[in-house]
Amino acid sequence: MNNFQLYNPVRLAFGKGQISNMGKMLPKGARILITYGGGSIKRNGVYDAVVEQLKGFEYFEFGGIEPNPHFETLMKAVELIKKEKLDFILAVGGGSVIDGSKFVALAAHFEGDDPWDILSKSAPIKSAMPLGAVLTLAATGSEMNGNFVVTKAETREKLARGSELVYPVFSILDPEYTYTLPKRQVANGIIDSYVHTMEQYLTYKNGADLQDSLAEGILRSLIAEGPKAMQADEPAYENREKLMWAATLALNGLLSCGTIGDWATHMIGHELTALHGLDHAVTLAIVMPGVLEFTMKKRKEKLLQYATTVWNITDGDNESRWKQAIQKTEEFFNALGVKTRLGDYGIMEDTIDEILKRFRSRGFEFIGGAGDIRTEDVEEILKSRL
Ligand code: NZQ
Ligand code: ZN
Repeated sequence: MNNFQLYNPVRLAFGKGQISNMGKMLPKGARILITYGGGSIKRNGVYDAVVEQLKGFEYFEFGGIEPNPHFETLMKAVELIKKEKLDFILAVGGGSVIDGSKFVALAAHFEGDDPWDILSKSAPIKSAMPLGAVLTLAATGSEMNGNFVVTKAETREKLARGSELVYPVFSILDPEYTYTLPKRQVANGIIDSYVHTMEQYLTYKNGADLQDSLAEGILRSLIAEGPKAMQADEPAYENREKLMWAATLALNGLLSCGTIGDWATHMIGHELTALHGLDHAVTLAIVMPGVLEFTMKKRKEKLLQYATTVWNITDGDNESRWKQAIQKTEEFFNALGVKTRLGDYGIMEDTIDEILKRFRSRGFEFIGGAGDIRTEDVEEILKSRL
């Protein structure tokens, strides 16, 4: 295994009704900013359940954080925090609200001139406001990691960063809060969790057998539970709790311990969202089969393991098994109702040139962490997905 450090201070409260423990987890006397998205929490009762726990606390609210949260919007929350001298953020929503709130937490303490530098220049960050999260969409793992992804609308840039300073102090994970999700978002969450797992698993073997087994378990669970969630007329608790826990485990740091991570699919996918506004998970479903095909011959050992342990593929020679595994992966995404070709979304070759230009201008020699995809290879990968 590679050497690794693991640090994760997030207190997770998982299960039905866990919101009742939130009051005890909030710092005494905190002046709170509740952050949320387009209003789903006001329609489905989650907002009421949160506010019920805030008796005795002074709180303000900031709504309107959009999917793929915008820097421009988030800076308005920073203004409110400074004006009202708030000292704790309570993010209620999916990955966009939680990620956006992490950025706000850093931007409110930022000492440089332009907080966008936090993302665009990896500007030094020394402290952040503490934040807590109430999760309403199982997908990103943001509830138990220090990552955040923010979009600058003005320049159509979508950039990611991670910092230990913005691990949530606590996260409340109540599977019932996901019951009102549109099926499209349920599918997105399953695909995002699946691809997070793959990004940390499907590269090269290096003795991290236990992490491999954990990854394979998460993938098998998503394959078993995903279609059930999509087909059910009514959400079922046991199904939603399994999906929620899988999503958190997929990106809370455990799977990457000692393993060789990739993240090429995410890097390319972020550009598709930035340029065309596609849902994050949709971009992953388009790109991942291309990344797997491109790297197939190099990553053959791991791909064969994936074919056998996750998809039970035992027929044919090795090359046919790799190909069957990639095909099964794409069919799984399709069965969740997500189309997996650029052409399905009206995206043409000119976008490929633009993405290459962007990567080159950032000085990237390789895409992803496995060292087997050069920047120019992105052209072949994306052309195979037209
Ligand atoms: O805004 P509201 O009204 O809340 O509606 C949201 C939004 O329209 C809705 N929704 C959320 N919970 C709901 C609900 N609707 C009904 N009932 C509920 N219970 O779902 C829509 C999508 O929400 P969003 O938060 O955008 O989705 P997701 O959780 O998939 O987050 C996507 C963002 O996370 C980033 C992505 O790039 C993207 O910006 N990621 C963050 C990561 C991280 N922090 O580690 C890793 C990921 O790879 C990803 O990049
Ligand atoms: Zn993702």
